[in-house]
Amino acid sequence: MIPQDTVQQILQAADITEVVGEFVSLKKRGASMIACCPFHNEKTPSFHVSPAKGIYKCFGCGKGGDSLRFVMDLEGLSYPDALRWMAKKYNIEVKEREFTDQDLINQNEKESLFIVLDYAQRFFADTMADTEEGQNVGQSYFLERGFSKLAIEKFNLGYALDARDEFLKKAEKAGFSPDILQKAGLISIKDNEVKIDRFRGRVIFPIHNVAGKPIAFGARILKTDPKAPKYINSPETEIYHKSHIVYGIYQAKNAIRQADNCYLVEGYTDVVSLHQAGIENVVASSGTSLTVEQIRLIRRFSENITVLYDGDAAGIKASIRGIDLILEEDMNVKSVVFPDGDDPDSFIRKVGSTAFSEYVKEHQQNFINFKTELSLADIGDDPIKKAELISDLVTSITKIPNPIKRSVFYQEVAKLLQIDETILLTEGNKILRTKTPENKRAERSDGGGTLPAPPSRNQELEIINSLKKGNGQEEALVKDLVLYGHIIIDEDEETGEKHSLADYLLHETNDIELETPIFNQIYQFYKEEHIKGNQIDSKMFSSNPNPEIQDVVISWMSPKHELSDKWQKFEIFVPKYEELLNESSYRMILRIRKEKLQQEINNLIEEIDAASDEDLEILMNSIGKKRDFIKLIAEELGSVI
Ligand code: CTP
Ligand code: MN
Repeated sequence: MIPQDTVQQILQAADITEVVGEFVSLKKRGASMIACCPFHNEKTPSFHVSPAKGIYKCFGCGKGGDSLRFVMDLEGLSYPDALRWMAKKYNIEVKEREFTDQDLINQNEKESLFIVLDYAQRFFADTMADTEEGQNVGQSYFLERGFSKLAIEKFNLGYALDARDEFLKKAEKAGFSPDILQKAGLISIKDNEVKIDRFRGRVIFPIHNVAGKPIAFGARILKTDPKAPKYINSPETEIYHKSHIVYGIYQAKNAIRQADNCYLVEGYTDVVSLHQAGIENVVASSGTSLTVEQIRLIRRFSENITVLYDGDAAGIKASIRGIDLILEEDMNVKSVVFPDGDDPDSFIRKVGSTAFSEYVKEHQQNFINFKTELSLADIGDDPIKKAELISDLVTSITKIPNPIKRSVFYQEVAKLLQIDETILLTEGNKILRTKTPENKRAERSDGGGTLPAPPSRNQELEIINSLKKGNGQEEALVKDLVLYGHIIIDEDEETGEKHSLADYLLHETNDIELETPIFNQIYQFYKEEHIKGNQIDSKMFSSNPNPEIQDVVISWMSPKHELSDKWQKFEIFVPKYEELLNESSYRMILRIRKEKLQQEINNLIEEIDAASDEDLEILMNSIGKKRDFIKLIAEELGSVI
């Protein structure tokens, strides 16, 4: 845990233009800075940064937030990791000490693993650069394969000497214990005493997490030895969960976001080779079948995946299951098959990057065409096999959460296989109905320490819609509180006592419960802080760890609510909201009261049927009083009832 005062210190230090400026080049325009949005692909800038408010907002894709959110979204970091990133940038010391002893031990162990893996990565890279064996064997292997020095550096490739325990000896001298070396998967210990290096006489591919730290290694053999495995990989450790990471994500993430597409290949060498040819939005599943966690990791950067398959049929059949998983995560998937015998690496070396891209463009297929083409060869005229294919396609379609997308694909299958669309739909609905709760995507819990998946665009839309449905009065109230609560609206001439808008609004709404959960949350938080006498700043909300709160408050703070400057250009005078405040918040409170009274009346009316004679009189009385009150308010508001 990062102590709260350190968090505040970090948030105060964070300068939005400095932080955003590290990733995109900002140009000044009026009070804002603008740039092409780093979150989506665009040619004319719609990404605005407001230095005064400490926030950014893209009017193209809708992303917005404060500097912390920016780092979280762009770098794919968790909230605490983004804080640490920021602390490092501003040289703020983070003392994380509120752990239990066990937490501390675990945390320290993870920390040590990161340190020792970083040491190992440097050791292997240095071995390749500085030793004779490294140069003659490791480096020359890579260079012969056509890997450039630049690519070698970018992926921190290295070499492990062909010796028993060369690494172990150096690492021990550097202060690492055999215990931690073993826990990191770098050495193996037999019978409690014989210790040897795990990686010997192999070239090394470090595997990095999203933040770029090495967490494991893949090591390729160089000799042709049919008895030895081609690759030796790190075992699962405290910080390496094979099924949760894809190779190359750190080097690829920006390109994936920019291209809004991710190429998925099989091997380490495919990734490096494509990068070197200028295709950087590529990651590898490292030869295993794709997992949900890996898909969700990619989804943090794009909802589109293009799977690039080696040209051997066995491999394709084995990996086809991954397609359904991708569909199930509400992502779009395309497939490309390379000519027989080629993988992406060998193919791009053969034809070059231009022809490679053209090939991909021409041969990419959606999953319907891909699966159909694959099985058509076996099917021939066999109606049973054709029926199997159709039901396989329908099963895949039912994995897609979005009904509109589903219907598009039903049409496609109907057309392609010349079958009545309604039959497909009936079939699909049958499958959907019999889905057991477990295979619905309800459980989105993430095991194993990965970040939860970000909300998809659909979920974002849902959130926005639910907000729209929410009570407009309540939004106006909470928005005034957050944005203008600190403004002094009146001062007692005798005592000199000052009243802020918040004093007024909170007093007037004391007995009111807000119905929209998100507004209520903000309202309650504000109230608590206000009662404690704390100064409340809209930044406290725009950098709130709850992204929903952030989004709402940032949408209030965004420039689209400040039209007055623009109007003035046309000499149409529109007073700034602040200037209207007194009057407007008074009216708002009246409206809220009126709405509540009406609601109360409605409730009382419902009780009439069941009421006894005595009760009825009381009821009518009370309804009458409330009606009078409403009338009074309406008069005050100047509206006719
Ligand atoms: N792999 C593995 N262990 C093996 C074989 C393969 O972990 N014994 C994984 C590696 O991540 C490898 C990927 O599966 O990168 C794909 O395997 P393959 O195509 O055989 O290797 P390449 O990386 O393409 O190596 P090369 O091009 O040098 O043959
Ligand atoms: Mn290969």
